[in-house]
Amino acid sequence: MDPTSTPATGPAEAKKLPELVSFRNVTKSFGEGPNPKVALEDVSFVVEDLPNKGELVTIVGPSGCGKSTLLRIIASLTPHFPPTKGEVKIFGKPVDCAGSDRGLVDQKYSLLPNLTVVDNIAFGLRLKGVARAERGERARNWVKKVGLEGSEDKYPSELSGGMQQRVSIAATLILEPKILLMDEPFGALDPRIRLRMQELLIQLWNEQQETVFLVTHSVEEAVYLGDRVFLMADKPGRLVEILHVPRPEEPPEQTRRKPWFVDFTQNLLRRLEEETPASTGTKPK
Ligand SMILES: Nc1ncnc2c1ncn2[C@@H]1O[C@H](COP(=O)(O)OP(=O)(O)OP(=O)(O)O)[C@@H](O)[C@H]1O
Ligand SMILES: [Mg+2]
Repeated sequence: MDPTSTPATGPAEAKKLPELVSFRNVTKSFGEGPNPKVALEDVSFVVEDLPNKGELVTIVGPSGCGKSTLLRIIASLTPHFPPTKGEVKIFGKPVDCAGSDRGLVDQKYSLLPNLTVVDNIAFGLRLKGVARAERGERARNWVKKVGLEGSEDKYPSELSGGMQQRVSIAATLILEPKILLMDEPFGALDPRIRLRMQELLIQLWNEQQETVFLVTHSVEEAVYLGDRVFLMADKPGRLVEILHVPRPEEPPEQTRRKPWFVDFTQNLLRRLEEETPASTGTKPK
């Protein structure tokens, strides 16, 4: 087996750290009767609570393989949560509802249409009871971090899809959740802004030490950002392999030209095609 890969349900690591997120034989089906839709089948993994640093897990797999379902189960959001079978623990305990320890940047970024950019970003702080002046200041700081200076007082309908996506990212990151769940967060961004957001995420991840689960359809993004890449397959949705990635030392533009990075992404692409041959349009008969 490739030395960087381990089976998804492999043996427990030798040294025991507290568990931050654990799935044990988690299955999620939708619908009753003899043919329920199985969105996730028998998924098991552990993300440990590493001292003074979080892990960045990226998730790749074909459309419909259960990536969003997996994130929404961690976030404890219906109708995906609770799972049909299996055990989910967050911070070592079973969960029964969403909490501010977990923040989700949803695939369908949902902003409040009647609030400005600043007020959308500050909204969660308002719910937490942070004073108006402080939340305004912190939100304006986030406007700059995500490159939206000048749009502070605009409403979502006045923004492009990529701009709305950045507001949504800022609105979640400002709350500094211990577990950050990002569902294709950079999908609507143009390539230049996407690289900038990747660098920002790495910088924040270093500062805030949160654990991140990030779903992406970009293999390069998965390898650049991930400490581990969860490779998923469909029919039924499942976790087939966990790949460990060396941490890049350089920005994305330089890293993507390094031989190890090219080899890694090629290997991951090959594995994706092996697991989901139909996606290439050349399924062997
Ligand atoms: N609320 C729901 N009711 C019924 N089926 C659902 C529901 N949510 C998801 N599914 C089904 O579960 C499967 C997994 O869906 P999920 O949204 O997790 O996939 P995904 O990997 O995130 O796909 P994509 O890459 O297109 O976002 C799909 O077949 C989907 O149709
Ligand atoms: Mg999805």
